Amino acid sequence: MSQKYILGIETSCDDTSVAVLKGDPTSGQAPEVLAFELFSQEQMLAQWGGVVPEIASRNHLDKLAPLLDVTIKKAGVTLSDIDLVGVTTFPGLLGPLLTGLNAAKTISLLKKVDIFAVNHLFAHLEAVHLTHEVTYPYIGLLVSGGHSLYTLVRASDDVEVLGSTIDDAAGEAYDKGGKLMGLGYPAGRIIDDLAKEGDINRFEFPVGLKTSKDCNLSFSGVKTALRTFLEKNPDYYVKSPEDINQDTKDICASYQHAIVSALKLKLRYAIEKAGELGHKNLPVVVGGGVACNSYLRKVLKEKYKNVFFVEPKYCTDNGAMIANYALRNYESRIKYPATLSIDARSRF
Ligand code: KG4
Ligand code: ZN
Repeated sequence: MSQKYILGIETSCDDTSVAVLKGDPTSGQAPEVLAFELFSQEQMLAQWGGVVPEIASRNHLDKLAPLLDVTIKKAGVTLSDIDLVGVTTFPGLLGPLLTGLNAAKTISLLKKVDIFAVNHLFAHLEAVHLTHEVTYPYIGLLVSGGHSLYTLVRASDDVEVLGSTIDDAAGEAYDKGGKLMGLGYPAGRIIDDLAKEGDINRFEFPVGLKTSKDCNLSFSGVKTALRTFLEKNPDYYVKSPEDINQDTKDICASYQHAIVSALKLKLRYAIEKAGELGHKNLPVVVGGGVACNSYLRKVLKEKYKNVFFVEPKYCTDNGAMIANYALRNYESRIKYPATLSIDARSRF
């Protein structure tokens, strides 16, 4: 097949992001990212202590059209050059998803261009192909703010869930833990940085579902343990940045150690489960926002030779991973005018 230009639109949560990629859907080679722009609502939402769907939707509405304009110009193309629009349609917050989908439909209507409706979770894992050559099948560990899943990825669109969290996602464990400590939102990167100078053995936090020999996860226990710990030791609460000291760093390191230990332990069971399904010695791919985490990267790389992490800039929500997923599934695209009746949904 010839080279195609793919526009990717991501608005499922609090990041508005657009990218233009150029690639051959059948070549198996990494596409070229011609332009990639992202507007993060992190700072705007920090005052609310998390994502407020209504405000996030309004911010997407504000930012998406200008971002589309800038990205297409930076890519050196026009809307008429676009062969396919990839847009996240699930899972996510419904209001934010609809802003992106409506933009995609408008482009489809104006330019008679096809759309691929992207599963955000699969796109997170498949983003590994933007920078690494990984063969199928592989074991995918998706760790983000909304989901934590172990999967067996047989092909780009053939993903079996082996296990998942029964309560909070790994990113939520970071964000809620950070909030309890007074570190701000989102706290993943902040805890990651503070923990670099902390002692993982100073405090003990529980590893969720430690004794169950499956690849399900639970992070509500570690969060509750931190809450109880801080109630007993209120001096450790960070009221202002000057309060950050060695104790804070040790708490971050110990708390993070419990989260990462759970992810590492349950990866072992996911590998075993894939083995039982006849897939031994598979590569492991780790994606999603928490895959940026330096300690998780270190621990899993020490344990497994064949582990690939999505490039940090493509780990958190971004349009490049959406365009990449659409390109890889080019043959299953929805043709105009059927594009105009595509729907979004919040659930996986
Ligand atoms: O994939 P993502 O951008 O959004 C979802 O699809 O949910 O992930 C966002 C999550 C947040 O919970 C954030 O705290 C976490 O990723 N995160 C990190 C790091 N960077 C982002 N968690 C741990 N360490 C990091 N360096
Ligand atoms: Zn995401």
